[in-house]
Amino acid sequence: MNYRHAYHAGNFADVMKHTLLLSLLAALGRKDGGFAVLDTHAGCGLYDLSGEEAEKTGEWRDGVGRVLDSDAEVLAPYLATIRRLGAPACYPGSPALIADALRPQDRLMACELHPDDVRPLRRLFRGNAQVAVHHRDAYEAMRALLPPKPQKRGLVLMDAPFEQTDEFSRLASAIVETRERFPTGVIAVWYPIKHRAPVRAFFDTLRDQGQRALLACELNLRPPLDPARLNGSGLLVARPPYRFDEEAASILRALTPLLAPENGEASVEWIAEE
Ligand SMILES: C[S@@+](CC[C@H](N)C(=O)[O-])C[C@H]1O[C@@H](n2cnc3c(N)ncnc32)[C@H](O)[C@@H]1O
Repeated sequence: MNYRHAYHAGNFADVMKHTLLLSLLAALGRKDGGFAVLDTHAGCGLYDLSGEEAEKTGEWRDGVGRVLDSDAEVLAPYLATIRRLGAPACYPGSPALIADALRPQDRLMACELHPDDVRPLRRLFRGNAQVAVHHRDAYEAMRALLPPKPQKRGLVLMDAPFEQTDEFSRLASAIVETRERFPTGVIAVWYPIKHRAPVRAFFDTLRDQGQRALLACELNLRPPLDPARLNGSGLLVARPPYRFDEEAASILRALTPLLAPENGEASVEWIAEE
Protein backbone atom coordinates (compact mmCIF):
# COMPACT_ATOMS: atom_id res chain seq x y z
CA MET A 1 0.00 0.00 0.00
CA ASN A 2 2.05 2.91 -1.27
CA TYR A 3 -0.76 5.26 -2.16
CA ARG A 4 -1.21 8.15 0.28
CA HIS A 5 -4.02 10.55 -0.43
CA ALA A 6 -2.26 13.38 1.45
CA TYR A 7 -0.19 14.00 -1.72
CA HIS A 8 -3.32 14.44 -3.83
CA ALA A 9 -5.94 15.92 -1.49
CA GLY A 10 -7.84 18.80 -3.05
CA ASN A 11 -6.63 18.07 -6.58
CA PHE A 12 -8.93 18.38 -9.61
CA ALA A 13 -10.17 14.80 -9.17
CA ASP A 14 -11.12 15.44 -5.53
CA VAL A 15 -12.96 18.63 -6.46
CA MET A 16 -14.94 16.83 -9.13
CA LYS A 17 -15.69 13.81 -6.92
CA HIS A 18 -16.62 15.89 -3.87
CA THR A 19 -18.87 18.39 -5.64
CA LEU A 20 -20.84 15.47 -7.07
CA LEU A 21 -20.78 13.64 -3.72
CA LEU A 22 -22.38 16.63 -1.98
CA SER A 23 -25.10 16.70 -4.61
CA LEU A 24 -25.83 12.98 -4.00
CA LEU A 25 -25.95 13.56 -0.24
CA ALA A 26 -28.30 16.53 -0.66
CA ALA A 27 -30.65 14.32 -2.70
CA LEU A 28 -30.61 11.63 0.01
CA GLY A 29 -31.38 14.29 2.62
CA ARG A 30 -34.55 15.39 0.82
CA LYS A 31 -36.51 12.49 2.33
CA ASP A 32 -37.13 12.36 6.07
CA GLY A 33 -36.20 8.69 6.50
CA GLY A 34 -32.63 8.06 7.60
CA PHE A 35 -29.87 7.05 5.21
CA ALA A 36 -26.57 5.21 5.67
CA VAL A 37 -23.34 5.82 3.78
CA LEU A 38 -20.54 3.30 3.36
CA ASP A 39 -17.30 5.08 2.38
CA THR A 40 -15.21 2.07 1.36
CA HIS A 41 -11.84 3.82 0.88
CA ALA A 42 -12.07 6.74 3.29
CA GLY A 43 -8.53 8.10 3.61
CA CYS A 44 -7.66 10.06 6.74
CA GLY A 45 -10.49 12.58 6.57
CA LEU A 46 -8.74 15.94 6.81
CA TYR A 47 -5.59 17.07 5.00
CA ASP A 48 -3.21 19.88 5.89
CA LEU A 49 -2.64 21.78 2.65
CA SER A 50 0.55 23.32 4.02
CA GLY A 51 1.87 19.90 5.07
CA GLU A 52 4.92 18.29 3.53
CA GLU A 53 2.94 15.89 1.31
CA ALA A 54 0.59 18.52 -0.15
CA GLU A 55 3.48 20.92 -0.65
CA LYS A 56 5.54 18.29 -2.42
CA THR A 57 3.09 17.86 -5.31
CA GLY A 58 1.19 21.16 -5.08
CA GLU A 59 -1.72 19.37 -6.77
CA TRP A 60 -4.32 21.20 -4.69
CA ARG A 61 -3.30 24.50 -6.27
CA ASP A 62 -4.60 23.25 -9.64
CA GLY A 63 -7.67 21.83 -7.95
CA VAL A 64 -9.41 23.45 -5.04
CA GLY A 65 -7.01 26.41 -5.35
CA ARG A 66 -8.68 27.30 -8.65
CA VAL A 67 -12.28 27.10 -7.49
CA LEU A 68 -12.17 28.70 -4.03
CA ASP A 69 -13.12 32.14 -5.30
CA SER A 70 -15.72 31.02 -7.81
CA ASP A 71 -19.10 32.69 -7.60
CA ALA A 72 -20.89 29.96 -9.59
CA GLU A 73 -24.17 29.30 -7.80
CA VAL A 74 -23.99 25.56 -8.38
CA LEU A 75 -20.62 25.37 -6.56
CA ALA A 76 -21.79 27.43 -3.57
CA PRO A 77 -22.81 24.46 -1.34
CA TYR A 78 -19.42 22.78 -1.89
CA LEU A 79 -17.43 25.95 -1.27
CA ALA A 80 -19.41 26.83 1.87
CA THR A 81 -18.90 23.29 3.21
CA ILE A 82 -15.17 23.03 2.59
CA ARG A 83 -14.60 26.51 4.07
CA ARG A 84 -16.59 25.57 7.15
CA LEU A 85 -14.49 22.41 7.47
CA GLY A 86 -11.16 24.20 7.22
CA ALA A 87 -10.32 25.22 3.63
CA PRO A 88 -8.05 26.67 2.47
CA ALA A 89 -5.76 25.70 5.39
CA CYS A 90 -7.08 22.14 5.37
CA TYR A 91 -8.99 20.12 2.81
CA PRO A 92 -11.81 17.84 4.01
CA GLY A 93 -11.86 14.34 2.53
CA SER A 94 -14.93 12.28 1.73
CA PRO A 95 -15.69 11.03 5.28
CA ALA A 96 -15.54 14.59 6.68
CA LEU A 97 -17.88 15.83 3.94
CA ILE A 98 -20.29 12.94 4.48
CA ALA A 99 -20.28 13.30 8.28
CA ASP A 100 -21.05 16.98 7.88
CA ALA A 101 -24.15 16.15 5.79
CA LEU A 102 -25.62 13.67 8.29
CA ARG A 103 -28.87 14.45 10.09
CA PRO A 104 -29.59 12.78 13.44
CA GLN A 105 -31.29 9.82 11.71
CA ASP A 106 -28.35 9.13 9.33
CA ARG A 107 -25.02 7.35 9.78
CA LEU A 108 -21.63 6.79 8.18
CA MET A 109 -19.45 3.68 8.03
CA ALA A 110 -15.94 4.64 6.93
CA CYS A 111 -13.38 1.95 5.98
CA GLU A 112 -9.67 2.52 5.62
CA LEU A 113 -6.97 -0.14 5.41
CA HIS A 114 -3.76 1.87 5.79
CA PRO A 115 -2.79 1.99 9.49
CA ASP A 116 -1.30 5.48 9.17
CA ASP A 117 -4.55 6.81 7.70
CA VAL A 118 -7.00 4.97 9.92
CA ARG A 119 -5.45 6.47 13.08
CA PRO A 120 -6.22 10.13 12.22
CA LEU A 121 -9.59 9.02 10.83
CA ARG A 122 -10.50 7.50 14.19
CA ARG A 123 -9.28 10.62 15.98
CA LEU A 124 -11.40 12.84 13.74
CA PHE A 125 -14.61 11.02 14.65
CA ARG A 126 -13.88 10.15 18.28
CA GLY A 127 -17.07 10.71 20.27
CA ASN A 128 -19.25 10.91 17.14
CA ALA A 129 -21.85 8.16 17.60
CA GLN A 130 -23.10 8.52 14.03
CA VAL A 131 -19.76 7.54 12.50
CA ALA A 132 -18.18 4.08 12.71
CA VAL A 133 -14.58 3.78 11.52
CA HIS A 134 -13.49 0.32 10.33
CA HIS A 135 -9.89 -0.71 9.83
CA ARG A 136 -10.61 -3.30 7.18
CA ASP A 137 -10.44 -4.14 3.50
CA ALA A 138 -13.04 -2.33 1.41
CA TYR A 139 -14.12 -5.35 -0.59
CA GLU A 140 -14.53 -7.50 2.49
CA ALA A 141 -16.37 -4.66 4.30
CA MET A 142 -18.93 -4.31 1.49
CA ARG A 143 -19.95 -7.92 2.06
CA ALA A 144 -19.99 -7.59 5.83
CA LEU A 145 -21.71 -4.22 6.21
CA LEU A 146 -24.35 -4.22 3.45
CA PRO A 147 -27.26 -3.88 3.34
CA PRO A 148 -27.19 -1.26 6.11
CA LYS A 149 -29.56 -1.53 9.04
CA PRO A 150 -31.83 -0.03 10.25
CA GLN A 151 -31.62 2.49 7.39
CA LYS A 152 -32.93 0.94 4.21
CA ARG A 153 -31.53 3.49 1.81
CA GLY A 154 -28.23 5.16 1.28
CA LEU A 155 -25.00 5.49 -0.65
CA VAL A 156 -21.88 3.41 -1.19
CA LEU A 157 -18.84 5.44 -2.25
CA MET A 158 -16.00 3.40 -3.75
CA ASP A 159 -12.85 5.47 -4.16
CA ALA A 160 -10.05 2.98 -4.73
CA PRO A 161 -6.43 4.10 -5.18
CA PHE A 162 -5.96 2.09 -8.42
CA GLU A 163 -2.61 0.74 -7.28
CA GLN A 164 -3.57 -2.77 -8.36
CA THR A 165 -3.73 -3.55 -12.07
CA ASP A 166 -7.05 -5.38 -11.65
CA GLU A 167 -8.83 -2.57 -9.77
CA PHE A 168 -11.35 -1.91 -12.56
CA SER A 169 -12.42 -5.54 -12.63
CA ARG A 170 -12.56 -5.79 -8.82
CA LEU A 171 -14.77 -2.71 -8.78
CA ALA A 172 -17.04 -4.11 -11.51
CA SER A 173 -17.56 -7.28 -9.42
CA ALA A 174 -18.12 -5.18 -6.29
CA ILE A 175 -20.76 -3.07 -8.05
CA VAL A 176 -22.65 -6.16 -9.22
CA GLU A 177 -22.50 -7.79 -5.79
CA THR A 178 -23.37 -4.60 -3.91
CA ARG A 179 -26.44 -4.01 -6.06
CA GLU A 180 -27.62 -7.52 -5.28
CA ARG A 181 -27.15 -7.00 -1.54
CA PHE A 182 -28.43 -3.43 -1.44
CA PRO A 183 -30.78 -2.91 -4.40
CA THR A 184 -32.18 0.40 -3.12
CA GLY A 185 -28.72 1.92 -2.66
CA VAL A 186 -27.00 4.51 -4.79
CA ILE A 187 -23.43 3.56 -5.69
CA ALA A 188 -20.78 6.10 -6.71
CA VAL A 189 -17.47 4.81 -8.02
CA TRP A 190 -14.50 7.02 -8.80
CA TYR A 191 -12.21 6.01 -11.67
CA PRO A 192 -9.10 7.46 -13.30
CA ILE A 193 -9.06 8.35 -16.99
CA LYS A 194 -5.59 7.82 -18.38
CA HIS A 195 -6.67 6.48 -21.72
CA ARG A 196 -10.08 5.35 -22.88
CA ALA A 197 -9.58 1.60 -23.34
CA PRO A 198 -9.71 0.50 -19.66
CA VAL A 199 -12.73 2.72 -19.01
CA ARG A 200 -14.57 1.32 -22.03
CA ALA A 201 -13.77 -2.23 -20.88
CA PHE A 202 -15.10 -1.38 -17.38
CA PHE A 203 -18.40 -0.15 -18.82
CA ASP A 204 -18.65 -3.15 -21.17
CA THR A 205 -18.16 -5.55 -18.26
CA LEU A 206 -21.00 -3.91 -16.33
CA ARG A 207 -23.34 -3.88 -19.33
CA ASP A 208 -22.48 -7.51 -20.11
CA GLN A 209 -23.54 -8.39 -16.57
CA GLY A 210 -26.93 -6.77 -17.19
CA GLN A 211 -26.35 -3.67 -15.06
CA ARG A 212 -28.89 -0.88 -15.64
CA ALA A 213 -29.19 2.78 -14.63
CA LEU A 214 -25.52 3.71 -14.88
CA LEU A 215 -24.53 7.33 -15.28
CA ALA A 216 -20.93 8.26 -16.13
CA CYS A 217 -19.80 11.77 -15.14
CA GLU A 218 -16.38 12.71 -16.50
CA LEU A 219 -14.03 15.65 -16.54
CA ASN A 220 -10.98 15.47 -18.77
CA LEU A 221 -8.18 18.01 -18.42
CA ARG A 222 -6.90 17.07 -21.87
CA PRO A 223 -7.66 14.38 -24.44
CA PRO A 224 -6.97 11.03 -22.74
CA LEU A 225 -4.17 9.92 -25.03
CA ASP A 226 -1.11 9.51 -22.80
CA PRO A 227 -1.64 6.39 -20.63
CA ALA A 228 1.15 7.48 -18.28
CA ARG A 229 -0.78 10.56 -17.09
CA LEU A 230 -3.97 11.16 -15.14
CA ASN A 231 -5.77 13.00 -17.93
CA GLY A 232 -9.17 13.04 -16.35
CA SER A 233 -11.41 11.56 -13.76
CA GLY A 234 -14.82 9.99 -13.65
CA LEU A 235 -17.59 9.16 -11.23
CA LEU A 236 -19.85 6.31 -12.22
CA VAL A 237 -23.18 6.50 -10.41
CA ALA A 238 -25.45 3.48 -10.28
CA ARG A 239 -29.11 4.24 -9.65
CA PRO A 240 -28.60 8.02 -9.35
CA PRO A 241 -31.28 10.14 -7.66
CA TYR A 242 -33.95 11.83 -9.79
CA ARG A 243 -32.46 14.60 -11.97
CA PHE A 244 -28.92 14.02 -10.67
CA ASP A 245 -27.83 13.87 -14.32
CA GLU A 246 -28.90 17.49 -14.86
CA GLU A 247 -27.31 18.65 -11.62
CA ALA A 248 -24.05 16.83 -12.41
CA ALA A 249 -23.93 18.42 -15.87
CA SER A 250 -24.32 21.89 -14.46
CA ILE A 251 -21.65 21.25 -11.78
CA LEU A 252 -19.18 20.00 -14.41
CA ARG A 253 -20.02 22.93 -16.71
CA ALA A 254 -19.02 25.29 -13.90
CA LEU A 255 -15.86 23.35 -12.99
CA THR A 256 -14.41 22.75 -16.46
CA PRO A 257 -13.31 26.32 -17.31
CA LEU A 258 -11.78 26.66 -13.83
CA LEU A 259 -9.96 23.34 -13.64
CA ALA A 260 -9.13 22.86 -17.31
CA PRO A 261 -9.32 26.21 -19.10
CA GLU A 262 -7.39 25.07 -22.18
CA ASN A 263 -8.43 21.65 -23.40
CA GLY A 264 -10.94 20.66 -20.75
CA GLU A 265 -14.03 18.67 -21.58
CA ALA A 266 -16.81 17.30 -19.41
CA SER A 267 -19.59 14.86 -20.09
CA VAL A 268 -22.52 13.25 -18.31
CA GLU A 269 -23.75 10.18 -20.11
CA TRP A 270 -26.08 7.28 -19.43
CA ILE A 271 -23.99 4.24 -20.28
CA ALA A 272 -26.90 1.97 -19.36
CA GLU A 273 -30.45 3.24 -19.09
CA GLU A 274 -32.98 2.30 -16.43
C1 LIG B 1 -8.24 7.78 -3.15
S1 LIG B 1 -7.93 7.52 -1.46
C2 LIG B 1 -9.44 7.93 -0.67
C3 LIG B 1 -9.81 9.37 -0.65
C4 LIG B 1 -11.11 9.67 0.05
N1 LIG B 1 -12.17 8.79 -0.42
C5 LIG B 1 -11.52 11.09 -0.20
O1 LIG B 1 -12.26 11.36 -1.16
O2 LIG B 1 -11.12 11.96 0.60
C6 LIG B 1 -7.94 5.77 -1.33
C7 LIG B 1 -7.74 5.26 0.09
O3 LIG B 1 -8.00 3.86 0.10
C8 LIG B 1 -7.11 3.24 1.01
N2 LIG B 1 -7.08 1.82 0.62
C9 LIG B 1 -6.29 1.20 -0.29
N3 LIG B 1 -6.64 -0.09 -0.45
C10 LIG B 1 -7.69 -0.30 0.39
C11 LIG B 1 -8.53 -1.42 0.68
N4 LIG B 1 -8.34 -2.60 0.06
N5 LIG B 1 -9.52 -1.26 1.57
C12 LIG B 1 -9.72 -0.07 2.20
N6 LIG B 1 -8.97 1.03 1.98
C13 LIG B 1 -7.98 0.92 1.08
C14 LIG B 1 -5.82 3.99 0.84
O4 LIG B 1 -5.01 3.87 1.98
C15 LIG B 1 -6.34 5.43 0.63
O5 LIG B 1 -6.38 6.12 1.85
